[in-house]
Amino acid sequence: MKFRKVVSVVGAGNVGEHTASLLALRGLVDVRMFDLPRKDGERLIEPVKGKALDIQQMLSALNIEGKVEGYTVTPEGEGYEALKGSDIVVITAGFPRRPGMSREDLLDRNISILSVIAGKIREYAPEAIVIVVTNPVDLMTYAVYRILGFERNRVMGMAGVLDSARFKTFISKETRISPMDIHAYVIGGHGDEMVPLISISNVGGIPLKDMLPRERIQELIKRTQFGGGEIVDLMGTSAYHAPAASIVEMVEAIVTDNKRILPCSVYLEGEVARYYEAESICVGVPVKLGNNGVEEIIKIPMIEEEREMWKRSVTSVKKNLTFVEELLNARSAL
Ligand code: NAI
Ligand code: 2OP
Repeated sequence: MKFRKVVSVVGAGNVGEHTASLLALRGLVDVRMFDLPRKDGERLIEPVKGKALDIQQMLSALNIEGKVEGYTVTPEGEGYEALKGSDIVVITAGFPRRPGMSREDLLDRNISILSVIAGKIREYAPEAIVIVVTNPVDLMTYAVYRILGFERNRVMGMAGVLDSARFKTFISKETRISPMDIHAYVIGGHGDEMVPLISISNVGGIPLKDMLPRERIQELIKRTQFGGGEIVDLMGTSAYHAPAASIVEMVEAIVTDNKRILPCSVYLEGEVARYYEAESICVGVPVKLGNNGVEEIIKIPMIEEEREMWKRSVTSVKKNLTFVEELLNARSAL
């Protein structure tokens, strides 16, 4: 009999490994990690098994309960049987951005990887809630949603929590006030046109616009919009500590059913799509997260300036959607 929830993390690179480690440290769930083997000279090694064992031993050192297992898989989709019984599957497999590379450059390569993985989730974990992290995340979430055919509350992309954490960090540094007392939401696509919402951001309840001059706020917005690129330029690869923590926030909201409102990339349709003027795409909006995944999509008020930014962000997500459709149709015709 299963007592603890199981979270599977597919892709145990920088983001996946740190996600698994943080999840295990929280002690709430058992963790299964999946990744490819790697060549070490002439030898084929299985880093994912080593990483899982290392994390398991970390738990013993800290007297934390939990089971962490690693599974080696192939690009063709062998080795995924252990997805069975997963309550949540997090997808971080794929290629990260390198300096000078846009998120869209990643599209073609990552979509073929995720097609295989989504097929395996459908086969082995048809009841799971799926969190997509691989970039370009809004398009990848859309692709995974289409391939899985799950209800829309069970498929979401992680980005808004990370972007909001970045915005919060910059506001905190500027105001010298604890991030714990800062509420800041970033919605829209996970790209340079994302929308930090000034009208509802506040520091200890005081509207941000009353705390800082407009020009400073604009600078913080710009820094947030290019927050991912700033880290890529400094580290030579994309961020992983804050992304992992953001995934954990979402997982915990689902597992503990705490009904947090967090910005996530979700498929919009119906009345909420009309409100957001964004029909049939996945894009970041505030949602209520609980046991059932996305339990409600919140219609957040936007002032005119934000609405204009929002429309630009939606347009930029839509730009590559036809290409995604073509890739998906080509794959389904195979
Ligand atoms: P990484 O290169 O460190 O890890 C990717 C892992 O995926 C590698 O271990 C690789 O072996 C594995 N992988 C590749 N092909 C696979 C396949 N066919 N099956 C199973 N595993 C496979 O990259 P990192 O830094 O962990 O980033 C992962 C993804 O997450 C990237 O696309 C990156 O752009 C994205 N990302 C998204 C964020 C967001 O806010 N949505 C934030 C940070 C990263
Ligand atoms: C980030 O924002 C690259 O999407 C990744 O750090």
